[in-house]
Amino acid sequence: MYVTLREVLAEANQLNMAVGAFNTHNLEMCPSIIRVAARLHTPVIIQTSEGTASYVGHRNLVAVCESMAEEYGVNVVLHLDHAKNFDEIRKALEAGYSSVMFDGSALPFKENILGTKRIVEMAQAHGASVEAELGTVGGTEDGVAVADADVRYTDPEQAVEFIEKTGIDALAVAIGTNHGQYKSKTNISFDQLEKIRDAVNGFPLVIHGGTGVKDEDVRHVIDLGIRKFNVGTDLLVNWNKTSKQCYDELKENASNRNMVMPAQKAVEEVVEHRISLFKNIVA
Ligand code: 13P
Repeated sequence: MYVTLREVLAEANQLNMAVGAFNTHNLEMCPSIIRVAARLHTPVIIQTSEGTASYVGHRNLVAVCESMAEEYGVNVVLHLDHAKNFDEIRKALEAGYSSVMFDGSALPFKENILGTKRIVEMAQAHGASVEAELGTVGGTEDGVAVADADVRYTDPEQAVEFIEKTGIDALAVAIGTNHGQYKSKTNISFDQLEKIRDAVNGFPLVIHGGTGVKDEDVRHVIDLGIRKFNVGTDLLVNWNKTSKQCYDELKENASNRNMVMPAQKAVEEVVEHRISLFKNIVA
C-alpha cells in the first residue's frame, strides 16, 4: 500500500528495526528500490529533493510509487527530503507525497518550532506525515557544504520540547554523521544518541548521512532508537560509476537501456545490502 511515514515508523518501532529511506535522483531508480524492498518483505521510503521532484515531476513520482506499492504488495512512502520552502512543500503535498521533511535546522530554535508547526498543519490537511531536524548534520547538502564550526549535536532537552510543541512524526538528529561522506566512514556519538533516546521515550529518530555509517554501527543505532535510515550518496556513486563504464564501452547508437539497466542493478545491490542490515535480525 501507499502509506505515510507515521505508519511505517510505528511498525519499525514495534519490530526494533529501521526503514530504509533511499534518495532517488531520477525516475529509473524508483522501481529498482521498490522491487528490492518487496522481495525482502520490508516497507520502503523513496525520498527526493525538491530538485529531483521538479525534474521528474511530482505526480509522476507519486504515480510510480502508488502503482508499484499496489502491484508488489509492499508499503511505500514517498517523502520530500530537506525542504525549506513552504511553496515547495505545498506543491509536493498537493501532488500526493505521503510525507515531507521541513528542514528548519539552521533557524533559531523558536523559529524552527514555528515553521515546523505550520508544516505539520499543512501536512495533516493532506493526511501526510512530517519529519523535522534539530541540530546540524555535517557534510554537503545539495552541493552546499556545512562548515565544521556550524555542526551542532541535537540537544536532548530541546528535542523533547520540539516534539511536544510541533506534533511531528519523526525527528532527524545530529550525532556526528555527514551528508555525502562516501570515501571514509564516520564516528557516531553513541553517547549523544543514547541521551536523546532516553529523553524522547521511544519517539522515532532519523539518521541522515547513512552512506558514511559503518555497517557494524547499524545495529547499535537501531537499538538506540533510529527508525528511518537515510541513504543517498551510496546509490548515486554506484549508479554513476556503472553507467559511466557502460557509456565508455558501448557504441553511441546502442540503446541507452544498456547503460541504465546495469546502473539499476548496482543500485539494487546497495539497497539489498542496506535493507538486510536495517531489518536488524539477530542471527
Ligand atoms: P548520504 O547521501 O550521505 O547517504 O545522506 C542521505 C541523506 O541523509 C539524505 O537526507
